[in-house]
Amino acid sequence: MNRVAFADRVVLVTGGGRGLGAAYCRELASRGAAVVVHDNGSDTEGRGHDPAPARNVAAAIVDGGGRAVACVADASTESGGREAVDLALSEYGRLDAVIANAGIIHDDSFEEWPTDRFEALLRHHLLAAFHVVRPAFAVMKDAGYGRVVFVSSAAGVFGQPRLAGYAAAKTGMLGLMNAVALEGAEFGITANAILPMAATRMALALMADAADTADGREFLDTLRVDQVAPVVAYLASESCDRTQLVLSAFRGRVAALQIGVTRGWISENGMVSAEDVATHLDEITDTDDLMVPSSIFDEMAYLA
Ligand SMILES: NC(=O)c1ccc[n+]([C@@H]2O[C@H](COP(=O)([O-])OP(=O)(O)OC[C@H]3O[C@@H](n4cnc5c(N)ncnc54)[C@H](O)[C@@H]3O)[C@@H](O)[C@H]2O)c1
Repeated sequence: MNRVAFADRVVLVTGGGRGLGAAYCRELASRGAAVVVHDNGSDTEGRGHDPAPARNVAAAIVDGGGRAVACVADASTESGGREAVDLALSEYGRLDAVIANAGIIHDDSFEEWPTDRFEALLRHHLLAAFHVVRPAFAVMKDAGYGRVVFVSSAAGVFGQPRLAGYAAAKTGMLGLMNAVALEGAEFGITANAILPMAATRMALALMADAADTADGREFLDTLRVDQVAPVVAYLASESCDRTQLVLSAFRGRVAALQIGVTRGWISENGMVSAEDVATHLDEITDTDDLMVPSSIFDEMAYLA
């Protein structure tokens, strides 16, 4: 089996100062990557700024003989994203992979969701990905090589109550992934995504009660960042030549999400009535022969 290695590779990890992001940084550095630990050190709701998390992760990697540098800019701004990409270039002269992992959390019943929190969720997840990946894409395009990993979430893809803004932002990451994958293909750039689960600060903000009981703690102990980090390392590596993969990783299981479309019901004359939908709903939703298009053109070709 070929080792998944990062010798001479440079990887930028947003949200790399804590939790899953810090585990990605350590895993990548242990495999030879130089890592840009990009984290503004905000609280779980995206407030405040603390340079310590990014600096501590970078310092620990350097102390262990690895290569790392901290960027404490806010990834959700155009200047913050560019600053991190520029730092990779000035420190290491290249940028091979980006893990768009930064994020925050807020929970509320749907009708109570504050507009400012909804916007903050979009900013710290989606914009934080966009503002780093866009300048990185230009660098990767020139190099003819790049790996982008978007951190999405089962809470968005499959759903979780009370997380409207989070779910919308995390599922939006998959739209970004598709755009980068399709536009990056001819330049050797792949874009994939991960649906992780781990007992981090963010998870505990949602499951504070669980941490108070022995059963809860036992459950949380089964969700570890080191069960996710190797999967992200694979997706960020040269070994992974697939694109638009969405892998779910937690508790030692790695599985793939399939975003497909059923074969469906096809009207004989091209016209469809509401009654046709009601009559043929079983056929429309039958998942036998599920097709998994890689673009809008693929889906249209099924009907050609
Ligand atoms: N923990 C889970 O079970 C889980 C599940 C699904 C998805 N995720 C996703 O994984 C990612 C990491 O989550 P975590 O659980 O490690 O959370 P965490 O709170 O431990 O870490 C998130 C980090 O992102 C940083 N950050 C936030 N906004 C930023 C910004 N604008 N610029 C730079 N840094 C910023 C924070 O300072 C923090 O250090 C998030 O995107 C989260 O949505 C986590």
